[in-house]
Amino acid sequence: MQRILVTGGAGFIGCNFVHYIMGHSSLHVTVLDKLTYAGNIESLEGLPGTRFEFVKGDICDAELVDGLTSDVDAVVHFAAESHNDNSLQDPRPFVDTNLVGTYTLIEAARRHGTRFHHVSTDEVYGDLALDDPARFTEDSVYRPTSPYSATKAGSDLLVRAWVRSFGLRATISNCSNNYGPYQHVEKFIPRQITNILDGIRPRLYGEGRNVRDWIHVEDHSSAVAAILEHGKPGETYLIGADGELSNRTVVEKLLVLMGKSPDAYDLVTDRPGHDLRYAIDSAKLRRELGWAPRYSDFDAGLVATVRWYQEHESWWRPQKAGTELKYAGQGH
Ligand code: NAD
Ligand code: DAU
Repeated sequence: MQRILVTGGAGFIGCNFVHYIMGHSSLHVTVLDKLTYAGNIESLEGLPGTRFEFVKGDICDAELVDGLTSDVDAVVHFAAESHNDNSLQDPRPFVDTNLVGTYTLIEAARRHGTRFHHVSTDEVYGDLALDDPARFTEDSVYRPTSPYSATKAGSDLLVRAWVRSFGLRATISNCSNNYGPYQHVEKFIPRQITNILDGIRPRLYGEGRNVRDWIHVEDHSSAVAAILEHGKPGETYLIGADGELSNRTVVEKLLVLMGKSPDAYDLVTDRPGHDLRYAIDSAKLRRELGWAPRYSDFDAGLVATVRWYQEHESWWRPQKAGTELKYAGQGH
């Protein structure tokens, strides 16, 4: 494999993956990204110019996608509308990008016989009870609950159908909640870090009891790289790092490490249909591909993430006021 196309490479996980894969291989990387509100070209600064190309465009643009796909050995597909709260306000872009965009890409990959990796989420499996010892596995039933997760579930099923019906050489990964550098301030952890930096109290939806299974974004990148290299076409791999924590616990940790009282947060209107708990069993990925996360200490990862937002205000500041205005309109 010499050349890959990365969709959504100007977003949070996509840009971290591009930095990771270019630092760990000699691959040539082309990024295709529409630069929606969530994409930021500054996140791709500092990459070796001889091995990197950026194309601004839409994954729903069949002609553009066909040309780019014909030129590469593999497509790694991160591009998506990714935020649940937005999907509850206006689901349409989620249907367009997550469903039609994925369809457009797999049709091109089918035509050119290109290896395809589809990046998806644990949310396709719905949620688990707080007191349930169970975790999601590759055999869990699809039960998405939000417009976002329903469109991601639909995109997974399209990929599976293309594997079975057309022999597409595709793998799928479903990962839990990521944290780390370059994450948009609409998301939970960067929103609370930048609120605290701005002297605003963190906001917890409902009672803050919901549980997310946190993984550092660099561990997600190393897992996708391992699947791209050694994954078996047709297979699905769950990615997780055993990082279950309640939202309240995460906010308390952030407040303490940023020198505030652990109870200096506010409870706000809950998200409609708010999934209670996600939890990943990543045994298959670890057993079959020998992958293991490097960031097993969540507190250390959080300290580094806080430091990154402190040191990169010029990256997130332009998004902050507009994001908070949008949340105010939703009672969050
Ligand atoms: P993000 O919102 O930060 O980035 C999405 C990127 O896709 C942006 O750069 C945006 O400009 C681009 N994009 C959106 N629509 C496009 C289109 N039509 N054409 C081309 N580019 C388009 O998202 P993220 O958090 O980095 O998530 C990346 C992928 O990982 C998504 O598929 C998401 O479902 C999945 N995922 C995310 C998480 C998480 O915790 N954030 C966890 C598991 C899986
Ligand atoms: O599980 C993987 C998913 O994780 C990805 O597929 C999504 O793309 C990604 O956005 C994320 O979805 P969540 O809805 O879990 O992430 P979010 O950052 O929006 O919220 C995390 C939790 O924090 C969730 O329970 C809602 C809560 N929350 C969120 C915000 C923004 C708050 O309590 N307060 C907030 O201000």
